[in-house]
Amino acid sequence: MVFNSRTVERPSHVPEEAVHEFDYFRDEGLFTDPHQRILDLVDAAPPLFWTPHNGGHWMAVGYNEAFHILREPETFSSALMSAEAAQQAGPTRLPDGRRIPMMTPIMMDPPQHTRLRGPLQKTFSPRTAIALKDDIEGLAIDLVDAVVPLGYADFVTAIAEPLPVRIFLKMMGLPDDRISEFRAMVREVLEPRGFDPVEEVLRMRRIGDAMIDQIIARRTDPQDDIISLLWSVEIDGQPMSLELMEDYCCLLFIAGLDTVINAMTYGIRHLARNPKLQTQLRADPEAIVEATEELLRLYSFTGPVRRVTRETKLADRILQTGDIVFVYLGGVDLDPREFPEPDHFDLDRENKNHLIFGAGPHRCLGSHLARIELQTLYRVVLERLPEFRMDPDQHPVFHPGNILSVSKLPIRWD
Ligand code: HEM
Repeated sequence: MVFNSRTVERPSHVPEEAVHEFDYFRDEGLFTDPHQRILDLVDAAPPLFWTPHNGGHWMAVGYNEAFHILREPETFSSALMSAEAAQQAGPTRLPDGRRIPMMTPIMMDPPQHTRLRGPLQKTFSPRTAIALKDDIEGLAIDLVDAVVPLGYADFVTAIAEPLPVRIFLKMMGLPDDRISEFRAMVREVLEPRGFDPVEEVLRMRRIGDAMIDQIIARRTDPQDDIISLLWSVEIDGQPMSLELMEDYCCLLFIAGLDTVINAMTYGIRHLARNPKLQTQLRADPEAIVEATEELLRLYSFTGPVRRVTRETKLADRILQTGDIVFVYLGGVDLDPREFPEPDHFDLDRENKNHLIFGAGPHRCLGSHLARIELQTLYRVVLERLPEFRMDPDQHPVFHPGNILSVSKLPIRWD
């Protein structure tokens, strides 16, 4: 991330009425009830505002503004460092010479992005996701059945964390006995301790190290897994390189694990607080598909970041080259101009075009898999767990930041 923790003066191109004080890392309300706090923010702040916290940056909480930003990569770049700044920052290697895996292609712009998204898009098809459906269901059943007799669970550690991690290991062809190692790495992403660039780089290296042997082995001994499939894809007629393979695998880890964990946990929290909805969905499991979408909209938690590449006007504001824009999707999907009564769970809502998976060239490649994991999990939980509620004696633990994550959700049942 490019933000720093400094609070800065308002720059001259930002008018006073565009300023709204909001610290997406430290705002107290985000620690107790993040989406309630975001509803208040959307109500009080302009759809595009500037905040002096974390180095000073724009925040888009309006749906139309976010949609525009995400679909205009020429003006709103995903390369958060300009080419000059990247050159100044020096080589992408650790002092001991080891390379730092890069988030390819999520931090690139078209046309380079389009070229490098291709292999992932080919590999990560809806078919790949459907092929994992039975495994997802089997795992969900095992995990839920293991807690049923206890009457209590921290939903995150018991179910939300192991499920996507095991699916990831399966998908990548990594052995199941690596689960604790991978869960520990996921925890580091789920429980960020503020932004530390050195730690971020070392973490990327650790994630790469955890997969590199498997990546090398699959080059000459292909199996039925994503790593082998990726090796078989050519880019512009050239064979895949080891560096790019490492980048892809690290991106899949970073983009595909904590996201599903958070989505599941927010969804289960909503169900735990709404027993009537549990009854309704138990009676009509077909509605779980629609319910999943509405839960995704209500609890969006990701925040793509963009760098402005040329002066531009948006929502009556002038944005200057180099300005940073944080597209706060948690707010965007609660924009009342787009979703009337945004805090209401409404199965019959006509507009289902939430932006939790982004929009434009970087739209999420894992949305099919995420949806299958979520729908399956909700179905299995509702089938096998008696009516559940939030544990009145314990609190969930939220971690505000670029991703609004949740690392503990205590629930109970009789
Ligand atoms: C509920 C779960 C998920 C959410 C909310 C989510 C959200 C997003 C968002 C908002 C983006 C766009 C980022 C940007 O515009 O900068 C994105 C991109 C991406 N996601 Fe997901 N994601 C989820 C699950 C997954 C899964 C399961 C995978 C794969 C295992 C995955 C792989 C990716 C990849 C590879 C990209 C980069 C696409 C590109 O840059 O072209 N995601 N995701």
